[in-house]
Amino acid sequence: MKVICTEKSQILGTSLARALKTSVVEVKYSRFPDGEHYLITGELDDETIIVGSVVDNDALVQLLLIIDACDCSKNRLVLPYMGYARQDKRFRHGEPVSARAIAQAVSIGVSEIITVNIHEKEVLKYFGVPARNISLAHDIGSYIKTLHLDNPLILAPDEGALIFARQVASAGGWEFDHLEKNRISGVEVTMAPKQLCAASRSVVIVDDIISTGGTIATASGMLYQQGAKDVFAVCVHGVLTGGAYVRLMAAGIRDVICSDTIERGCSKISAADIIAAELKRC
Ligand code: R5P
Repeated sequence: MKVICTEKSQILGTSLARALKTSVVEVKYSRFPDGEHYLITGELDDETIIVGSVVDNDALVQLLLIIDACDCSKNRLVLPYMGYARQDKRFRHGEPVSARAIAQAVSIGVSEIITVNIHEKEVLKYFGVPARNISLAHDIGSYIKTLHLDNPLILAPDEGALIFARQVASAGGWEFDHLEKNRISGVEVTMAPKQLCAASRSVVIVDDIISTGGTIATASGMLYQQGAKDVFAVCVHGVLTGGAYVRLMAAGIRDVICSDTIERGCSKISAADIIAAELKRC
């Protein structure tokens, strides 16, 4: 068995290969003069773990090309971050169910799929092969322990993230709560005022995705007004679009931490071990 990964998942792919005590296949990437992607893989095995986060459209195309290049092998796909998963239903007449379109495309040529903290578990039903989701909540809890915070409050930005916050908090037996978020647009959110036990405490806001940073910047403003000592932002998928990291730091966030499902300078938590464990389990 070998691991092969897309260009934007090369650190996680290599870490996964190390965790599985196997080798990673080299891939050479280039483009045709018109911008189309080209790639060529090194020596393949007859069983392959393909790792590729759909972080953007180029990453999606590279992933599809890699799956096709591995057509002589039995393939399992690890989809650490699945872009387009938030358009998981038709909200307005005429819209696509984008998550379904992506799920169907990446299912061709693989026998099973593992996702990591997929935005909405319902999306798993759109894959054309058996798919299951694993969660980094425990690993995030373990990371928070290393910060040695005194009695931190673990906070979900909305009720939908409350189960995730509870799972993170269980790592240290910490208190957890949630806010009420209203999304006005892709970049603008409001928070219903809520009195929290934040005064003089460290608060860790946890979410599956930080995209524009709007959710957490708004939440941190409320927390500092209530006397929070410091506010940390921890997520699985650091999309960090449009200068989100700077936006969060400017909002007074003490540190922004994400995992390597999207490879960033602030990817301090690796999903490699939990993915390896899941692959070995099955
Ligand atoms: C939405 O439901 C997700 O869980 C995140 O809360 C959202 O994607 C964060 O977006 P942003 O960072 O743009 O506020």
